Amino acid sequence: MRQPSKRLQNLSAAIFSEMAARKKEVAKKRAVYDLSIGSPDQPPEDQLLETLLDAARQPGAFGYALSEGTAAFREEVARWYQYRFGVELAPDGEVHSLMGSQDGLAHFALAWTDPGDIVLVPDPGYPIYEGSVHLAGAIPYRMPLRAENGFLPKLADIPDEIAARAKFMILNYPNNPVSAVATVDFFTEVVAFAKRHDIIVVHDLAYSEMAFDGYRPPSFLQAPGAKEVGIEFNSFSKSFNMAGCRIAYVVGNSEIIKPLAIVKSNVDYGVFLPVQQMAVAALRMDREAGGKNSVGPVYQERRDVLLTALAEAGWDIEPPKATMFVWAPVPKGWTSREFAIALLEEAGVVVIPGSAFGDEGEGYVRIALVQSPEVLRQAARSIAESGILTRRAGV
Ligand SMILES: Cc1ncc(COP(=O)(O)O)c(C=O)c1O
Repeated sequence: MRQPSKRLQNLSAAIFSEMAARKKEVAKKRAVYDLSIGSPDQPPEDQLLETLLDAARQPGAFGYALSEGTAAFREEVARWYQYRFGVELAPDGEVHSLMGSQDGLAHFALAWTDPGDIVLVPDPGYPIYEGSVHLAGAIPYRMPLRAENGFLPKLADIPDEIAARAKFMILNYPNNPVSAVATVDFFTEVVAFAKRHDIIVVHDLAYSEMAFDGYRPPSFLQAPGAKEVGIEFNSFSKSFNMAGCRIAYVVGNSEIIKPLAIVKSNVDYGVFLPVQQMAVAALRMDREAGGKNSVGPVYQERRDVLLTALAEAGWDIEPPKATMFVWAPVPKGWTSREFAIALLEEAGVVVIPGSAFGDEGEGYVRIALVQSPEVLRQAARSIAESGILTRRAGV
């Protein structure tokens, strides 16, 4: 019997599938509150939908697009980076469109590694970071993200022989799943480390606009010298509720982007042209609104409603400064998987066990703020009424 490639064996999404299957069963018996997957539940702004429809009616709208993105798209991204972060980008070479940051992340290791090369990945981390390394036949080295270090990797703990074999390092702040944030000072240390060891830095800034209480997440490219060593992915999925449109971009060092562009232009074409026009309108709208992006307040209210209700029920959780996730410590006596299953079966609340994101995620569950405040309140009430929080596992 022929077997699929061995590479696939390292792409296990077992816990995600298990939670989905269990949810189906539980939903036959009771109300279920799905706080598992980070897919935005809100539509894009009306004016963006209108731009999309108008653009779709233009002649040529349905033709193939070039992989790098239209000049208008790349110019607007450069303008937005200047406005938002004070970072200068050349639209030709330093900006390249993507079909979601997932596309860029999935293909980057193919563009930059050979079998045996090492890639430094965060643990816990968004699954494609490590998955892409396995797909390319390279070797992931996990950098632990721990509460005592503010969920930042300790660069000094990376052994020299690992750093010597590492092609690139992936970072992600604001972070999924732990929702921690980083400063430009931290990024400056990363630049020094990358220069010392000749390592490329790949920063994933997917949550740049989903931030609360006036906090504005920085770009890695704001660190002095960052463009000499790195690139950054950013996306319209979360910032503008456009996840299904599949549009994002990579910016930064043109020599680092070039090999990724070669892989991409062989694998596929560019993003649907009307979606590129919609994205241009989104960035322009954001610049004109002067930082009043609506996604921040929507998720901030959800965060506050959920955490207040859970605190009343006896579950104290550090409020995140950004992202659509709450990284919640599991009460003593449970593994994160056991606790997630109990929340589902006894309270109907679906969350993802932290261990799904790497060994260092043990001890936490990830709650996605992807329901209305009313539903989040009901979910918290259901958890309180289940009595899970005051009981030990298996009792
Ligand atoms: C950290 C992170 N990076 C990238 C992505 C993928 O985003 P996109 O829709 O741009 O592919 C996600 C989606 O959840 C994410 O959480």
